[in-house]
Amino acid sequence: FLSHFKPAAAVAIAALMIGAGAADAKNFKIAVGDSAGSAQEATGKAFVAALEEKSGGKHTATLFLNGQLGSEEVTVNDAAMGTLDMSLLAINNITPYSPTVGVFSLPYVILSLEEAEKLTQGPIGEELTQNTINDAGVRIIAWTYTGFRVLTNSKKPVKSVADLQGLVVRVPKNEIMIDTYKAWGINPTPMAWSETFTALQQQVVDGQDNPYLTVNAMKFYEVQKYITNIRYIFSIEPLIISESLFQGLSADEQQMILDAGQAATQASAQFLRDSEAAIKQDLLAKGMEISDPENGEEEFIKLATEAVWPKFYDSIGGVEKLNAVLETLGRAPV
Ligand code: MLT
Repeated sequence: FLSHFKPAAAVAIAALMIGAGAADAKNFKIAVGDSAGSAQEATGKAFVAALEEKSGGKHTATLFLNGQLGSEEVTVNDAAMGTLDMSLLAINNITPYSPTVGVFSLPYVILSLEEAEKLTQGPIGEELTQNTINDAGVRIIAWTYTGFRVLTNSKKPVKSVADLQGLVVRVPKNEIMIDTYKAWGINPTPMAWSETFTALQQQVVDGQDNPYLTVNAMKFYEVQKYITNIRYIFSIEPLIISESLFQGLSADEQQMILDAGQAATQASAQFLRDSEAAIKQDLLAKGMEISDPENGEEEFIKLATEAVWPKFYDSIGGVEKLNAVLETLGRAPV
């Protein structure tokens, strides 16, 4: 009897162990707003690689590109509800749920990649991470740095605020960005990211703004001709995780996720440094025309900062929040 029982028991125990192992192994779903070749994808891939490495191959994650799991704004809500694990999206699309992150979208506050790294990886980044947990039920675990959001359009070279008049420009559903264009004298068209390419293609709108990397990855060169190197927003695109999911993980798993997020943040900065200049050349080669705003962008800067900053002091948590940012960057307070 025993000689027959043992192998069966061994099989049963092995099956249980496989079952337990399979239940523990995680494959997180990550919604990604942008397409292959984007900065978001680079961050996502680096996160997956680091998570696999840190967990000895036990845990992984899968990227769903091109807004397959929903437009960026919607994914914040889904992650908060726990029906989505993670999302990679532009920070301006989190602002409606957690207004204090708007400090990173105020025009002409972040003026370089180095400034973006300093802010996101220091105490201010930690405070905003805590705020998104409280306000939106999502935790920021990595930062993507995508470069300045340049203006593209299909109609004409734009070098001045005067040139901008008459253009129909799509913006995210973000009050700060809407008000910035209003300060420049036009009424922009707020629209979900997932609808933007089609709207440009069908000429429902003439233009939009996003970094070179995004313009290239999303193939906007097929439907846009002119680029203006405005530098009003340095695009930051966090990787967020559902806070309820995160709280349900073991301490070890949480640590692995945070460490993988840090590795992804570093990889993102490197990706931008390595690729932005070549992508700009590529856009020129594909027939886009690139201009700089006249007079060092002076008029754009003056109109935007004067009208927009004071309007959003309350929503970012008070003027002292902006001053903390400016102080961190070694600039004079307002
Ligand atoms: C937007 O314009 O809504 C975002 O910047 C899109 C993106 O994720 O690249």
